[in-house]
Amino acid sequence: MSAELVRRARAVMENAYAPYSRFHVGAAIEAEDGSVHVGCNVENASYGLTICAERMAVGAAVAAGKRKFARVVVATTIEPPATPCGACRQLLAEFGLDLEVITVGPKSERRWRLRELLPEAFTPESLS
Ligand code: THU
Repeated sequence: MSAELVRRARAVMENAYAPYSRFHVGAAIEAEDGSVHVGCNVENASYGLTICAERMAVGAAVAAGKRKFARVVVATTIEPPATPCGACRQLLAEFGLDLEVITVGPKSERRWRLRELLPEAFTPESLS
């Protein structure tokens, strides 16, 4: 299944709107029901409004009614493959720290659980 997720992440990376950084990112997140939701980074002339690929993918998934996720693949064109930024780690953490995070570049891939990438996370449980 992760081969298909990698294919989807690389495909959506092609649609990245990144005229300022020229750094293209694609993300594909798999919900527990097997459905796949994708996103790419979308930049803006007002630079700070840029939205990362991972957050776009989570938004698409939530809009489709999904809130439980098994894994996410993030595709970039660099080696070693880029890891999700802090803001994206935090957004992903909202839905569970067991999430498998896979990053892929042109040649290699890396894998973690989200809890490894965001130790001592602030989560919904922190509020209770
Ligand atoms: N970017 C992502 O899409 N995801 C990340 O986790 C890190 C950064 C995007 C934002 C911006 O469009 C470009 O990469 C350079 O920072």
